Amino acid sequence: MEAEAASGSAGESSWSKVGTSLPVTSVQALVASAGELTVDKIGRYIQPDIDAHAVLPELSDEVPVIDLSKLLSAESAEAEAAKLRFACAEWGFFQVVNHGIPDEVITGIKQDIQNFFQLPLKVKNEYAQRLGDLQGYGQVFVVSDDQKLEWGDRFALFIQPPQARDMSYWPSQPHTFRNCIEQYSSEVMKFTHSLAILIAKTLEVDPKLVADKLASQFLRMNYYPPCTSTPEKVLGLSPHSDGSFLTILLEVNSVQGLQIRRHGAWIPVKPHCDALLVNVGDLLEIMTNGKYKSIEHRVTINAHKERLSISAFQIPNYDGIISPILETAEEKILYKTMKVGEYLRLYFSNKLEGKSALDYAKLSEI
Ligand code: OGA
Ligand code: NI
Repeated sequence: MEAEAASGSAGESSWSKVGTSLPVTSVQALVASAGELTVDKIGRYIQPDIDAHAVLPELSDEVPVIDLSKLLSAESAEAEAAKLRFACAEWGFFQVVNHGIPDEVITGIKQDIQNFFQLPLKVKNEYAQRLGDLQGYGQVFVVSDDQKLEWGDRFALFIQPPQARDMSYWPSQPHTFRNCIEQYSSEVMKFTHSLAILIAKTLEVDPKLVADKLASQFLRMNYYPPCTSTPEKVLGLSPHSDGSFLTILLEVNSVQGLQIRRHGAWIPVKPHCDALLVNVGDLLEIMTNGKYKSIEHRVTINAHKERLSISAFQIPNYDGIISPILETAEEKILYKTMKVGEYLRLYFSNKLEGKSALDYAKLSEI
């Protein structure tokens, strides 16, 4: 009994130790500072090898759109579930409409996140990320002093389970922000649990096995300032897959920037104001033994307009285990069984580089 309680509390607080990032200047402050953005000033942000040519501008209309209300209604459920299975297996990425999160919850968080990033730097810095942590106002994935930097600022919090929260990072300005974060977070939890049950159906596994994997939530709010001088040479986020089980992305304003990699090319995703974007994360790829693959994506930068987004990373308990579930006894196991905390520590200890973190979880083919 005692041992159980001890390991429970150790697990919950362990999220705060999952990674760190070296402190860097706020890009928003850099852009706001007087003077031209010379290469001297922004040299560390210039990415030498952005494959801009492989962008397919017209294809984003094909990105699957899933209607949650159809998935939940008896007469349309089967056809919509087939679309969901296809979206997970063939895209790893889809938009969800009629997701059930009330408009006022979405509008509230969108408004407050915009207001938060408009606060003076001094105020935002009261919530600055502390060394050894991933929460607060700062960056992620900066692991060395000479790596290229990304054109964006972040504000991140561990929200679920509630014991994982560090309230010293929760802003008191805007005054409604804490409440909006709380409401949005719990609505996303409800939404992902409905989705988990449906994803379990598409895999023909026990819904509990999937729902279990969504117990924790890391919320990251992204602010991508415009880059007037060289927008095509910087990236808001380098190509990566998410270390989550599932990620729910809310685009806060309708400035395009997200691109997903499909068949080797980059497809820009047109913002759709009524939809949530969902993507398969590395942990779901491991659990499905590669049937649902995490999708690689990146964020490009606009010359004139800022972009904001909120990523909700749904992950299992820190102390949980992730392991492939096989469909048949003959199926070859492609991924290791890993501790969730171990995978995420590894994920956060590297700079973002495509799907390279997942290589650690792959069993070598002999
Ligand atoms: C992320 C991410 C995309 C975006 O936070 O991992 O991919 O549009 N965000 O901000
Ligand atoms: Ni991502």
